Amino acid sequence: MCPPTYYTVAYEINPWMHVTQQPNHARAVRQWRALHHLLTRTLRVTVWLLRARPGVPDLVFTANAGLAWGRTFIRSNFRHPQRQREEPVMERHFRQAGYRVLTLPRRHNFEGEGDALWMGGTLVLGFRFRSDAAVHEQLARLLAAEVLPVELVDRRFYHLDTCFAPLGPKTALWYPRAFDRYGRRVLENLVPDLVAVSEADATRFVCNAIALGQDLVLPAGGSARLKRQLGRRRIALHEVDLSEFLKAGGAAKCLVLRL
Ligand code: ARG
Repeated sequence: MCPPTYYTVAYEINPWMHVTQQPNHARAVRQWRALHHLLTRTLRVTVWLLRARPGVPDLVFTANAGLAWGRTFIRSNFRHPQRQREEPVMERHFRQAGYRVLTLPRRHNFEGEGDALWMGGTLVLGFRFRSDAAVHEQLARLLAAEVLPVELVDRRFYHLDTCFAPLGPKTALWYPRAFDRYGRRVLENLVPDLVAVSEADATRFVCNAIALGQDLVLPAGGSARLKRQLGRRRIALHEVDLSEFLKAGGAAKCLVLRL
């Protein structure tokens, strides 16, 4: 995780961002700390911190920096120049931490865990708005795993982790209309137990959730129906108010990169 010391909405690269609607800094810091506290104290997760830097306000969304696989880190090639400035920061950080850092050809965009999520032993890759479909072959080769590319069709859900969340080996949350018909079929074939969320829940970023065994950390504001559906599956919900991060188009999951 990276503290939100220099976090602002400095540009608009997704439909949620408006430079005229700035996050409240003190509130953002409190919300981030509450998430960090929940992960480290309540759920006993080990969290490594990345030092915040000025001039890269979206660095807080560490999940987009790349994809970690054992001691290998596949660094992102960000679509937008504003976020490409994060690439050398992340590359240096992971090299210094002893990781083998791999990069993909520059002409192919890839936004790490924002668009690449493991469902069991299969990597699901969301493409179009941020990552390119072409990276699926390279990822399959590097990871020696099956990679299933699915196209995203709704700009509001520009990263896979805004509309799909694996919760365990058999279950996932999703917002079906963020995918085209083919992508929906691919996910329906892959995941035995798909929990569809409403548009209202999806726009509150409930799919941007962190699954830790039977615990699920998600942004506050999900519907009673969603909570019932998850409760029936014996999933313990931990809600965090992340209103200030929604203003940049992010929530719980993208504030954390899994190592
Ligand atoms: N402002 C950031 C961007 O548009 C937010 C990224 C949030 N990450 C996510 N996986 N949804 O790139």
